Amino acid sequence: MEFRYIRVEREEYIAIVTIDRPQALNALNTAVLIEIGTALKELALYDDVRVIILTGAGDKAFVAGADIGEMANLTPVRAREFALTGQAVLSTIEDLPKPVIAAITGYALGGGCELAMACDIRVASDKAKLGQPEVSLGVCPGFGGTQRLPRLVGKGMAKKLIFTGEIIDAATALQIGLVDMVVPHAELMARAKELAATIAQKAPFAVLQSKLAINRGTETDLATGLALEAECFAQTFSTEDQKEGMRAFLEKKKNVQFKGK
Ligand code: CAA
Repeated sequence: MEFRYIRVEREEYIAIVTIDRPQALNALNTAVLIEIGTALKELALYDDVRVIILTGAGDKAFVAGADIGEMANLTPVRAREFALTGQAVLSTIEDLPKPVIAAITGYALGGGCELAMACDIRVASDKAKLGQPEVSLGVCPGFGGTQRLPRLVGKGMAKKLIFTGEIIDAATALQIGLVDMVVPHAELMARAKELAATIAQKAPFAVLQSKLAINRGTETDLATGLALEAECFAQTFSTEDQKEGMRAFLEKKKNVQFKGK
């Protein structure tokens, strides 16, 4: 895959997508957004990619937001298109049939925080700083911040962060549930890869069905969510991996090699 603003690398079952625009702290312009969406859709097609890590180049930022230079002179019509483009790419990540881990190097602000929230699991460097500072620029969040942040941290905390534009450190983000792990800065990628490798060893279809049941089920009432879970569970019984996983347990075998079939 050839891109201008992102890099895609493969390590066994893991794909690493790096937003590579450090001179602008990896800010998301339309071209970057389109490249992220294109890369992820392609990676979703490969059976030998089981987990994707999304990160930012350089030491300073995951993503410092949507590109303020591109946004500054937008008309309301173009601003809506920009928001819809960003939202569509982030929804692609959320709905991707592979787990996506955000490895948050440094600043994850505005669109960067929104991008991280669209990922399945957020691993942050202890130097990371997160926030939705849009109101300081005279706008509200536009890539899903008003929707995903309250779902992650509750309405009151989301309103506090969005209304004040406060930028919080990694420890605070962990405490409120905005990130899921905080690790020493120098170990960020190693720890994200370790997590990815652990997930990659599990049965891929079972992981996918879990993602689907959690994502869709938590957006509906409990009874519908439970019915969806039962269907997801049932479908895992159509796989060789289910047969192999359960047989290995009963025969007391360790280290099952799941085939993704
Ligand atoms: N868009 C475009 N360029 C950006 C950017 C952004 N979001 N964030 C940083 N940059 C650029 C800077 O303009 C600067 O470029 P130049 O060297 O050409 O001047 C370069 O990145 C380095 O940034 P700073 O010199 O500002 O670095 P710093 O260490 O002094 O500050 C920072 C770092 C606190 C993150 C600061 O850059 C900053 O506040 N950035 C903007 C953060 C922000 O407001 N994000 C939200 C954007 S709005 C949004 O995302 C809307 C939405 O929901 C869709």
